Amino acid sequence: MRFFWGDCVGMKGVVLAGGTGSRLFPLTKVTNKHLLPVGMAPMIWHPLWKMKEAGIEEILIVTGTEHMGDVVALMGSGKDFGCRFTYKVQDEAGGIAQALGLAENFAGGAPICVILGDNIFQDSLQAEAKAFEGQGQGARILLKPVEDPQRYGVAEVKDGKVLGIEEKPKAPKSNLSVTGIYFYDATVFDIIRTVKPSGRGEMEITDVNNAYIAKGQMSFGTFLGWWTDAGTFPSLIHASELAMGEITPFPNTQKH
Ligand code: G1P
Repeated sequence: MRFFWGDCVGMKGVVLAGGTGSRLFPLTKVTNKHLLPVGMAPMIWHPLWKMKEAGIEEILIVTGTEHMGDVVALMGSGKDFGCRFTYKVQDEAGGIAQALGLAENFAGGAPICVILGDNIFQDSLQAEAKAFEGQGQGARILLKPVEDPQRYGVAEVKDGKVLGIEEKPKAPKSNLSVTGIYFYDATVFDIIRTVKPSGRGEMEITDVNNAYIAKGQMSFGTFLGWWTDAGTFPSLIHASELAMGEITPFPNTQKH
């Protein structure tokens, strides 16, 4: 089956780079978390490279009001990256699902690949984007076995199906963390409108994903290579060590 959006509408990308970065204070006192170095590049370049590698060149970057100027100064129009960037401001940090809701007009009905700007990983997204395109509708998430699942959204998987996701469970049902890389069809925006803030006052992406699971429209892939977030001091250092081996092909990395 082909996607109902057909071959004429290409997949678009959304990089979510908001939040206060409070777990990395004072590094984030005067700048955005996603501008901090990871390996030889600013953190946000890593997810952008993964999108570009998967053929996604129309990309929306969502960030807060405080450091939008610096984000634009670093990235520009996207010309140097071989991409086209659009920017959108998230007025207050209200959660990942709220930030994604700002992408509705940008998406314009096209399927989207969403990456949380602090997710750093090794695998290419090419095959995953293709698998999602072949799916026809719904959503696709990427899972990775980890040693500390209680820090993440955790997926319960049985017979090749995701049964449900719990956000930061005290007693995780598996070791499969839900990474911050998601594929959605255009119904994601209708789902977001139904999501209520969680106990931590945020609109959770896990609630969005569980809505797709309830509709029987969620598939998943598994990362084989390394994956980490970079939102805490230990994970930022770990991400940097892992990413040192990866040379991003974006232009400014070539300069001395
Ligand atoms: C967010 C999501 C969580 C996911 C994680 C991946 O958590 O809520 O489900 O596993 O990203 O990085 P946060 O980093 O906002 O605590």
